[in-house]
Amino acid sequence: MSKQVVFSLSLLLAFIFHCNTSLAQAPDILEILEKPGRFTVLIRLLKNTGVANQLNGELQKSNTGYTFFAPPDKAFSDLRSGAINSLSDLQKVELLQFHILATFVSLPNFQTLSNPVPTQAGDTSAGEFPLNVTSAGKDVGLATGVVNATIGSTLYTDDELAVYQVDKVLLPLDIFRNYKPPEPVSESPPVAAKVHESSALSLTGHGMWFSIGIAASVAAFSL
Ligand SMILES: *[C@@H]1O[C@H](CO)[C@@H](O)[C@H](O)[C@H]1NC(C)=O
Ligand SMILES: *[C@@H]1O[C@H](CO)[C@@H](O)[C@H](O)[C@H]1NC(C)=O
Repeated sequence: MSKQVVFSLSLLLAFIFHCNTSLAQAPDILEILEKPGRFTVLIRLLKNTGVANQLNGELQKSNTGYTFFAPPDKAFSDLRSGAINSLSDLQKVELLQFHILATFVSLPNFQTLSNPVPTQAGDTSAGEFPLNVTSAGKDVGLATGVVNATIGSTLYTDDELAVYQVDKVLLPLDIFRNYKPPEPVSESPPVAAKVHESSALSLTGHGMWFSIGIAASVAAFSL
């Protein structure tokens, strides 16, 4: 090999090495969540609200780091249907920001935090966005006043960003103070609800036969 080739090769290697290290310095929250394949709802929310871009931008200039709580698809499907879709755009942003701490917290350090822990959603006063760490033995618990969640596996950690899976969507009091979790499927609904449902059912039943009747006569005419 000529000296020139060797020189170009080492330049190239130095360049590749430089690229790799600068990538490692700025983790991408979407890349981290895409790998396991079970955070599709969270990823969609992070993209649609612009919170992913915001967080990725902040990660590049932060000195104190970030901690991110990631509920998997199962946690979203466990919610009452429409719980997320019925939120305003601002509430969706606040819900996501409630899953972000503007400080890097390693697992053993959760015990050292004092309650309530400030999140990116802001105001931690009662009824707003308080988040408490409740340590029970080895597992780290999180209490919002609406749900109690547990921190599961560590999806990513460096000195700057920690991403932990949580078993529940962290529902803040400010948005979900009247939230009722869905009833277990096996439980029969109360009698009043039954009467209401059956009359609603027969109404839609009439409506349906009416439409079919119209459709049939239209069809008959056009023959
Ligand atoms: C969180 O902790 C604070 C301070 O200990 C307490 O006043 C508050 O009731 C707790 N809230 C929840 C939801 O656990
Ligand atoms: C959360 O845990 C606390 C303390 O164990 C309990 O009092 C509360 O009822 C729990 N809340 C929910 C929503 O499960």
